[in-house]
Amino acid sequence: MDDHSHDHDAVDFYMAYQDSCDVPALQLIHGFPLNGSMWQPQMEDLANFVRVIAPDLRGHGQSEPTPGPYSITMLADDCADLMGHLNVLTPFVVGGHSMGGYVAFEFYRRFREHIGGLILVATRAAADTAVARENRDKMIDLVQRRGVTAVVQPMLDVLFSPKTYKSDPELVQFVRGLIETASSEGVIGALQAMKERPDSVATLPTIDVPVLIIHGADDQIIPLGEAEEMAAAIPDSKLVVLPDAGHMPNLEQPDAFNDAVIDFLERLGIED
Ligand code: MLT
Repeated sequence: MDDHSHDHDAVDFYMAYQDSCDVPALQLIHGFPLNGSMWQPQMEDLANFVRVIAPDLRGHGQSEPTPGPYSITMLADDCADLMGHLNVLTPFVVGGHSMGGYVAFEFYRRFREHIGGLILVATRAAADTAVARENRDKMIDLVQRRGVTAVVQPMLDVLFSPKTYKSDPELVQFVRGLIETASSEGVIGALQAMKERPDSVATLPTIDVPVLIIHGADDQIIPLGEAEEMAAAIPDSKLVVLPDAGHMPNLEQPDAFNDAVIDFLERLGIED
């Protein structure tokens, strides 16, 4: 817990130092086609407990787009490189929302030695079905022809609990703004990456770090049953189901979400 994960390059000997950021880290990886600002309530509340790092994946938010194709492995490597660059303490916790969960599984497979816990938010372990893959192609075609604008409303219509549209229209507008900042390259790249992503079902029983699964009871994109199946297959897991939350539980029920994360960090013994 008290070692930096990477030596820094500037000196040719191991130089110890103190750093006011010397607290355990939590990386939060956003879903499609959002960006790190989706974690705003977590940046505000959890930063008292851990160092929260919320990247924008390539082509999303303020991160530069690169030409495709993208893969989940490439996105996981980007996230791991960022942690190395920031010289965070290890082990750290990796959390992923939906597509970010697909990245988190890959991060775990590739860099298990750095990970002390996983948080899986509104995500699933299974790869795309044949129908889902066809839908990815249709969406890629739509974005190629009409740009990101074409996917904004169809996404917004399914992202939340039916109750959220009435109770919190400002939140819906906030998320609209997040989607609108994604680039076409980023959206197409992410769709390709998700379409080709590996199945993580076989990974579940091999996960030997504690896992917190958080899912909205009203998720219209990934049914709750998939989270229940993950919880049953992962040896050390806890499932927290948030009522009146859809696919964005961290934004729809931020207090309950943050409480679940803080409990988890306390259990891991890595909150500051
Ligand atoms: C996401 O929210 O990241 C995506 O909707 C997940 C997916 O399309 O598989």
